[in-house]
Amino acid sequence: MCGIVGAVAKREITEVLLQGLHRLEYRGYDSAGLAVISSQNQLQILRKVGKVNILTEATKKQGISGQIGIAHTRWATHGDIQERNAHPHVSSNIIVVHNGIIENYQSLRQVLSKRGYSFFSDTDTEIIAHLVHWEQCQTGGILADIIQNVIFQLHGNYSIVIMDSLDCNKLVAVCSGSTLIIGCGDGENFIASDKNALLPVTCCLIFLETGDIAEITSQNIKIRNHLGNIVERSKTLLAKKTYIEETYSQYRHYMQKEIFEQPCAIQNTIAGRLQSDFIDLSELGENINILFSKVQHVQIIACGTSYHSAMISRFWLEKLANLPCDIEIASEFRYRELVVRPGSLLITISQSGETADTLAALRLTKNYSGYLGSLTICNTEHSTLVRESDFALITYAGSEISVASTKTFTAQLTLMLILITYIARIRGMEHVIFHQIIRTIEKLPRSIEQILSLEKEIKILANKFIHKKHALFLGRGSLLPIAMEGALKLKETAYIHAEAYAAGELKHGPLALINDDIPVIVIVANDYLINKVKSNIEEVHARGGKLYIFAEQNTGFIQCKNINITLLPKTEPIIAPIIYAVPMQMLAYYIAVVKGNNVDQPRHLAKSVTVE
Ligand code: G6P
Repeated sequence: MCGIVGAVAKREITEVLLQGLHRLEYRGYDSAGLAVISSQNQLQILRKVGKVNILTEATKKQGISGQIGIAHTRWATHGDIQERNAHPHVSSNIIVVHNGIIENYQSLRQVLSKRGYSFFSDTDTEIIAHLVHWEQCQTGGILADIIQNVIFQLHGNYSIVIMDSLDCNKLVAVCSGSTLIIGCGDGENFIASDKNALLPVTCCLIFLETGDIAEITSQNIKIRNHLGNIVERSKTLLAKKTYIEETYSQYRHYMQKEIFEQPCAIQNTIAGRLQSDFIDLSELGENINILFSKVQHVQIIACGTSYHSAMISRFWLEKLANLPCDIEIASEFRYRELVVRPGSLLITISQSGETADTLAALRLTKNYSGYLGSLTICNTEHSTLVRESDFALITYAGSEISVASTKTFTAQLTLMLILITYIARIRGMEHVIFHQIIRTIEKLPRSIEQILSLEKEIKILANKFIHKKHALFLGRGSLLPIAMEGALKLKETAYIHAEAYAAGELKHGPLALINDDIPVIVIVANDYLINKVKSNIEEVHARGGKLYIFAEQNTGFIQCKNINITLLPKTEPIIAPIIYAVPMQMLAYYIAVVKGNNVDQPRHLAKSVTVE
């Protein structure tokens, strides 16, 4: 979603801004813009609908240059996708870029209209520029003080960076519930909404806290907290190796690369945690076993693909740790009256660690006593979710660029299985079973390599789907979430309407949809539910449905008219959801490729969903 980059230096910074925007592209956006003040104090602004490349070309053409500037990628919320709605927004000498939503913008717009301001855009951002300008005209004084007065009038979660073309040696940034990170350089400083934009220029970062206002010049960084007191925020030095110039190397898309990186992503997530006869989670601190032994209930919160990880985790928590578990989509959870169960552990799952609803849900739980603690499973170290949770376990899947999550999903599942097995052992899981599960998890990278070798077969299968408008995915038990993940992948990348159903629910409605034009994809594990699923398959077959079955070898499925079988290698049922997710990812990917879609950045979607 929206991304911010700002720079103030003693050198030319336009390239830094554009490179920063380029490194934010993966988050999803529809337009981009920048404002740079030239050495002759001229304000230069450019906005373009479409890709950052278009903005880059136009910037070069116009010869925009300077030593201070702000830039933005916009994902439309208020106002449609047009150049005039792209950021930065301006009110005379005040220039603003903004992430998040100003919820009371309508009433503020009316107030400003009465004060004589006219509006160039339909955005909520433009009111910020006018409010700051108005306040500056009324009171004068230091920009940071003026902004402090203005933000009392703004409702919502947001981050803002403001520049004053009449006082052009500083940027002022406000962090209010939406991430902002300062990049500290040598005689130059930067700001961005995502560390990826900063890493090409510095590894020394300051993560602003909610309520912080930072005044940034090339030499100084002054931060005041929500009370207006000057504060020191600690600097985090990231290792140089964190910055890798991402490319798809031999692959055609990031999504393909990330699907094929799964054995390695899982291996990195396991490394150091699985020992020959024990699980090492000492990274959670020495008192963690005491906390885990008190857990009587687990509440898991997540969105999108991460929610599917939560669904499978519930299944494992009940089966392995005998723990009751509730799962919920963060956007629903955050608006409920919570009834906290005694001894409840809160777990959030997120690839980015920046999803607005998941963060809001975590913050909400802090108002309730009763939670033993909060633990996040996250792929992004130093993300807001990691910083605000009591405990964090990082999936070391490496950065995921494609909007559709793949390797972070299977890494999340692997880490959840490790965590749940660890908790189960504390709660009395038998030694023999504990060992069996450790051995099974260790096999995961190899098992996924075997699945990846089905690429050719799945590519051929994909051709059968290109003209389809709808698809139905069926699963049972721990594979129902994988059916849901398969349907989600198909919608987001291939733009095919897909629904997932618990196979046992077919008779309660979806059977009415069955005809030979709707492919029915069934995922079958060789577990205690196999005969039940077989009966459900018969029900579809008897009604002329076209079945695409993904099942383990030796499970007795026979290819025939209207039944296509993709045989999967033998798998222990406990890890079947992790392994069987992969053919679903490959199927959606190849259908999207054949259809010629923008696989890595599907229309209307964003990787990091930083607004609710
Ligand atoms: C977006 C992404 C999904 C992701 C979801 C949750 O919708 O496109 O791939 O699953 O957000 O994001 P999170 O970062 O919290 O896992």
